[in-house]
Amino acid sequence: MPAIVILGAQWGDEGKGKATDLLATTDTIDYVVRTSGGHNAGHTIVIDGERFATHLLPTGILTPGCTAVIGNGVVVSVPQLFNELDGLRAKRPELGELVVSASAHVIAPYHQTIDKVTERFLGHNKIGTTGRGIGPTYGDKVNRLGIRVADLFDEKILTEKVEASLEVKNQLLAKVYNRRAVEVDQVVEELLAYVDRLRPLVADTSLLLNQALDRGETVLFEGAQATMLDVDHGTYPFVTSSSAVAGGVCTGAGIGPTRIDRVIGVIKAYTTRVGSGPFPTELFDEDGEKLWKIGGEVGVSTGRDRRCGWYDVVVARYAARVNGLTDLFLTKLDVLSSWEKVPVCVAYEIDGVRHDEMPMTQTDFHHAKPIYEHLDGWWEDISGCRTFDELPTNAQRYVQALEELSGTRIWGVGVGPGREQTLVVHD
Ligand code: GDP
Ligand code: IMO
Ligand code: MG
Repeated sequence: MPAIVILGAQWGDEGKGKATDLLATTDTIDYVVRTSGGHNAGHTIVIDGERFATHLLPTGILTPGCTAVIGNGVVVSVPQLFNELDGLRAKRPELGELVVSASAHVIAPYHQTIDKVTERFLGHNKIGTTGRGIGPTYGDKVNRLGIRVADLFDEKILTEKVEASLEVKNQLLAKVYNRRAVEVDQVVEELLAYVDRLRPLVADTSLLLNQALDRGETVLFEGAQATMLDVDHGTYPFVTSSSAVAGGVCTGAGIGPTRIDRVIGVIKAYTTRVGSGPFPTELFDEDGEKLWKIGGEVGVSTGRDRRCGWYDVVVARYAARVNGLTDLFLTKLDVLSSWEKVPVCVAYEIDGVRHDEMPMTQTDFHHAKPIYEHLDGWWEDISGCRTFDELPTNAQRYVQALEELSGTRIWGVGVGPGREQTLVVHD
């Protein structure tokens, strides 16, 4: 199984870190690759009870013998890269190797400033970004005003590019946002601070990965963000600024679609979302509070509370469609122990009409009201179960119902944050 994609099927934080780590350690995975987003991601891995969080780095960095790759589609904050690397190394001296694409775009300090001032300017219409400069960096990439990793190795070119990028931004900062203009020299100095440490890590990662696939080695693509946050297929404009769907893996890594063998969608047994935007099954009652509390639903990157709601089959089937999912990995089933009935959204009602598919317009999606089926719950603590058969009958029925309703086979089920707290349903 040479190329496997793992991605989020909802609004992020589904447990992609755990799923990636699980595969990286159980199968022989040679490379774990990030292809989109930046340090807006927060992926948690629990190894022997110890908790690790990665943001910009692929979780494969925690697996010795595995090479972690930051692909060209990622946006890189260089100080964050080394902070994260040093932080992980302090806890776990044996890390995997790291390679960074020469073509990845660089987050400059002014991108973060613009992200924050834009959000403030938007007021109650804000996106609720992570404030890490992700949107403005991708904006510069598309506007052809970006800085790429390779540019850091030529000070003259870098200075010219920073100058070009700041020409309009400084007008905007001073005249619209009432902020001080940014000095070119200071930015260049900050960007060059880590250049000697960065240089040996940089490579043509498209070539590296294609050659690895030619040799029959296994490459795991670790998605960040998720389908419903994808810039094209998500709840636009309440999305991130990158392609978080399976298609984004090809552009973000420089591999062709025919290389990909398996696409695993990670999905929670309920739903969460951080930041603004529509969320049909969101709960504002004690059930929402209970999910938040039992699920520990606090963001790994920003510490914000996650909004909570029931499982949404329309979202699951949409994710299966736009990503071509081959499997689902269902996480956090353990959180649902102790409900008499567990509602599952099977369709939406919009202005009196039933919709079984994702509505075509965002206006309709904003008005979508969930139509629920109520499945029988269970009371037992399932966090110690290690096979599907050990689950209480109603928990088994819940998984089987989600599989049938979502139209994609459920490969594995998470019953706790630990690597070992996983049941393989279909091998
Ligand atoms: P990611 O961004 O998709 O990698 O997910 P996050 O790490 O942001 O959030 C998922 C959270 O759920 C983390 O705290 C994980 O440790 C935790 N988690 C993952 N799988 C399970 C599971 O099956 N059960 C429980 N209880 N927690 C889980
Ligand atoms: P992982 O990989 C959940 C959300 C932000 C905001 C929107 C845009 O851990 O699942 P951005 O800073 O990207 O411009 O913010 O996207 N967001 C995430 N939500 N998990 C993530 O990553 C996210 N990355 C971005 O909250 O609503
Ligand atoms: Mg996360």
